[in-house]
Amino acid sequence: MRPPFGIYLHVPFCTVRCGYCDFNTYTATELGPVGGAKGASVATFVDAAIGELDLAHATLPDAPPVSTVFVGGGTPTLLPPEDLVRFLAAVRDRWGLADDVEVTTEANPDSVTEESLRVLADGGFTRVSIGMQSAVPQVLATLDRTHDPANVARALAAARAAGLAVSLDLIYGTPGESLEQWRTSLETALALEPDHLSAYALTVEDGTKMAARVRRGELPMPTGDDEADKYELADELLAGAGYGWYEISNWARTPTDRCRHNEAYWRSHDWWGIGPGAHSHVDGARWWNRKHPATWAKGLADGHPEAEREELTPEQRSDEAILLGVRLREGLPTDLLTADGRQAVAGLVADGLVDGRAAIGGRVVLTRRGRLLADTVVHRLIASGRA
Ligand SMILES: C[S@@+](CC[C@H](N)C(=O)[O-])C[C@H]1O[C@@H](n2cnc3c(N)ncnc32)[C@H](O)[C@@H]1O
Ligand code: SF4
Repeated sequence: MRPPFGIYLHVPFCTVRCGYCDFNTYTATELGPVGGAKGASVATFVDAAIGELDLAHATLPDAPPVSTVFVGGGTPTLLPPEDLVRFLAAVRDRWGLADDVEVTTEANPDSVTEESLRVLADGGFTRVSIGMQSAVPQVLATLDRTHDPANVARALAAARAAGLAVSLDLIYGTPGESLEQWRTSLETALALEPDHLSAYALTVEDGTKMAARVRRGELPMPTGDDEADKYELADELLAGAGYGWYEISNWARTPTDRCRHNEAYWRSHDWWGIGPGAHSHVDGARWWNRKHPATWAKGLADGHPEAEREELTPEQRSDEAILLGVRLREGLPTDLLTADGRQAVAGLVADGLVDGRAAIGGRVVLTRRGRLLADTVVHRLIASGRA
């Protein structure tokens, strides 16, 4: 059976850059005059993206109807909603959409309205993932987030009214954030009863404004212990409210509320990434586009938006299946491991990192402690197989 096929669209524009973020995104000032180049501006972007869909379709005319579409960024909701709907219609025109297609856009709380969300829902979007990050003004200020926290509830209510499923995205471990502040964010998010929640530990990325502030001693560096306490609190409160974890950083109210697009990444299915810097993975090959919007648009005009490509070796494919599969609640089938890797499972169970009962049933499922130390688990499963 062919694996499901997904489409990702990367929208590389933001109004302001948050101090912690090193995603491939640009403010108007950062883009400068090239922001006027065809395909590299908010006004011309979707037509260029539809041009890349044509390239993808010429390469994969027989791909199955698209199961999931995910529009991420950057801030996709800086584009007119009609443009996002036009992009979705272009996907539908080329491959068709599966009957139960999931179509998500990320959104900043300040960049959606009742009207814009209705246009998205009427045009076929099914989900919106709102970047809440925190409910605490002091934490939002450290993150340089500009949104009014009250707009999260407004955006969620408007999305619900339009018939969209809602995810809230949270960050924990912001420098200076106390455990009680993190509890407030979790409780505020839960009171809004979203369908789905994600909580990612803040990474202080080299080259960001936040990294410079940490280096200068203006902000404390988050510690592993603090992150572990916050992860445990998140899992306790979310599980207590009926949200089940299905990937280390993701919780859903019911199995049907999971993000199937992200599940496809973790299961190494096929997807085509459209837009500057977007990554694709089809049939064991992966490639990524030129990073800057102007370079991408120029490459696209010449028929080559791609920067580099690699074919995964069987060993790389196996390592990747372990690295990603172990993050999932359903666990990793032990028959994907080498004989040495299978032997390592017993030690991981003894150390309380892997669930013993699931291991007897032939799956590696992380315990809560194991989820905190997932990198160690992966290392032991792979390294023992190589010894
Ligand atoms: C890149 S943003 C795109 C969507 C939207 N602009 C937003 O901010 O919600 C997607 C998610 O990545 C998170 N993110 C960005 N930089 C991060 C970092 N250094 N550590 C952890 N999460 C990060 C954001 O907070 C956000 O929830
Ligand atoms: S709004 Fe989102 S994508 Fe834009 S800079 Fe902030 S975290 Fe990054």
